[in-house]
Amino acid sequence: MIDHATISKIIDASEIIDVIQDFVSLKKRGVNYLGLCPFHNEKTPSFTVSPAKGIYKCFGCGRGGNSVNFVMEHEHLTYPEALKYLAKKYHIEVVEKERTQEEIQQQNERESMLVVLSYAQKYFEETLFHNDEGISIGLTYFKERGFRQEILKKFGVGYSPEQRDAFTKNALSAGYKLDFLTKTGMSIARENYKFDRFHGRVIFPIHSLSGQVIGFGGRILKTDAKAAKYLNSPETEVYHKSRALYGIYQAKSSIVSNNKCYLVEGYTDVLSLHQVGIENVVASSGTALTPDQIRLIKRFTPFITIIFDGDEAGLKASLRGIDLILEEGLNVQIVVLPDGEDPDSYSKKLSTTEFIEFIDKNSKDFIKFKTELLVKDAEKDPVKKANLIKDIVKSISVIPDGITRSVYLKECSSLLNSDEKILYFEMNKIRRKSNEQKYRNSGYREQLPPPVTPVQQQAETEIYSDTEAQEREIIRLLLQYGQKELFEVMGEDEEAKYISVDEFIISELNIDELILKNKLYQHILELYSSYLSKGISPDEKMFINHEEHQIRELSALLLAPTYNLSKIWKKHDNFIETEEMKLKEIIPETLYAFKNKKVIEATRELEINLKKAVNNNNLEEILAIQERIMNLNILKKELAKNLGDRTII
Ligand code: CTP
Ligand code: MN
Repeated sequence: MIDHATISKIIDASEIIDVIQDFVSLKKRGVNYLGLCPFHNEKTPSFTVSPAKGIYKCFGCGRGGNSVNFVMEHEHLTYPEALKYLAKKYHIEVVEKERTQEEIQQQNERESMLVVLSYAQKYFEETLFHNDEGISIGLTYFKERGFRQEILKKFGVGYSPEQRDAFTKNALSAGYKLDFLTKTGMSIARENYKFDRFHGRVIFPIHSLSGQVIGFGGRILKTDAKAAKYLNSPETEVYHKSRALYGIYQAKSSIVSNNKCYLVEGYTDVLSLHQVGIENVVASSGTALTPDQIRLIKRFTPFITIIFDGDEAGLKASLRGIDLILEEGLNVQIVVLPDGEDPDSYSKKLSTTEFIEFIDKNSKDFIKFKTELLVKDAEKDPVKKANLIKDIVKSISVIPDGITRSVYLKECSSLLNSDEKILYFEMNKIRRKSNEQKYRNSGYREQLPPPVTPVQQQAETEIYSDTEAQEREIIRLLLQYGQKELFEVMGEDEEAKYISVDEFIISELNIDELILKNKLYQHILELYSSYLSKGISPDEKMFINHEEHQIRELSALLLAPTYNLSKIWKKHDNFIETEEMKLKEIIPETLYAFKNKKVIEATRELEINLKKAVNNNNLEEILAIQERIMNLNILKKELAKNLGDRTII
């Protein structure tokens, strides 16, 4: 935690032109500066920086903010990381508050471990390129496999000599403490003998998102050896296997600019793809992705393409793991390489263009891929087919977005040659079950002692209500465009005035007394209203820089490039139609969709009560409920009409 005084000091010291000029070349135009936007591809500059206001704004892609936002977006850092970056640039000492002795010690320990790991990386790299054994065995191996020097350097690969304690001896004599050598897993100490974890292997350093070396993978070179082909660093204080993703550091900016992430299996696959110019690639290190790894990718793009090895015997088995990716709301595509090939081998067999063409041509949407793959086995066997339907529908049912779900159901019903209604029925059954499960789990949580604030209570696993997607969209639009003028209306004095986006959203929700189910969203909404009622115009920055970390995180996520990028609708000849140009349609539509769902929800509830009333023969109740259902239907029609009226203005 960085204290407030320090944060202000950092923000005050950060001269926006100075900060941005480290990354973008700017030219003075009047009072402002102009340059090529680093966040989207453009030929004529529309990226504007105002030194007076201390903000940047791109009129092409709509991205904007202060120095901290720029560093966060450009370097893909979190809020505290960006602050620390700027503090370093302006030589401001960062005072971290409320750290216990224990935390300080833990921090020191982590830092010492990182220093050791960085030393080890340099040692292995040095050995690969400058030591006789390294050159003749390690470098020759890489050269024989066709890896160019520049790629080896980019990933910092190295070589560990055959001698069992070469690294440990070297590190100890360079003054590194045995304690940290063992804590990082680099050395193994027995009573009177210390030796290296990695020896006689080529070494692949594993980097954190911000580029620090946190662990290693080492590949054995002898073909006859019984030892495992790959040996990896153990789980340590700084290396958590379930959170690390090989190649993410080298891939992150390319993932953002391509708005897509390729997923391969191995270290060498990542290197090979970089070598043919595909840089938006990470490796799962031979296992299924974990939720943490999926969320890491999601910070940069919602589009993931998995490249499967052609000899993938267990392809069908690994399909199941993909549901986890769908569940996080990512769009999954699949490419299967020809039999016996992996990305490494196949990218070397074809020319670069041929390989890229192959990937493009053979990328298939996951749900469709799965359906087509499995439907062949099941065509003539009704039992198999029923199971298949369940299986496919289960994959679809985890997708958070309702519209996407229905599109898939439609497609699959024709692929499976079965009635869409049946698929719907099946899906709703699954979703109901899983909601019940989540509800039960959440009930259990409620028995625990209440946490400090209600907002913090909202764990990531919180039930996703059916309106989650709409609620999230409402908050995003509010944060991103709140102060923008939306509709022109006639004021009482017959003068034209504007209703801004925030006024519109808040009043629309208030009219129908609607509360967002997601507590964090509702909290942000209330906070926003309270700013407005105090006469403060809230902007993105107040939320991105907010003191509550959940607010900061969510707004950074919602306002992150990928959310905007995916919202650029159509490209006309030379003209990109941005979301901002379409707010008049998008905002009422989003609110309408939300209200509509609320009405459906309420109707559904009433229908259940109606059944009960019918069973109990309670005529009075039956009539009362029927009337309420009718009113809701009227409301539904009215919603549609209101929407029509507004879009005309
Ligand atoms: N892996 C591992 N331990 C093993 C085998 C594999 O950690 N004993 C992980 C490694 O991250 C490896 C990935 O699984 O990169 C894929 O394994 P594999 O396809 O066998 O290796 P490749 O990366 O293809 O390596 P190479 O091309 O050198 O054979
Ligand atoms: Mn492989």
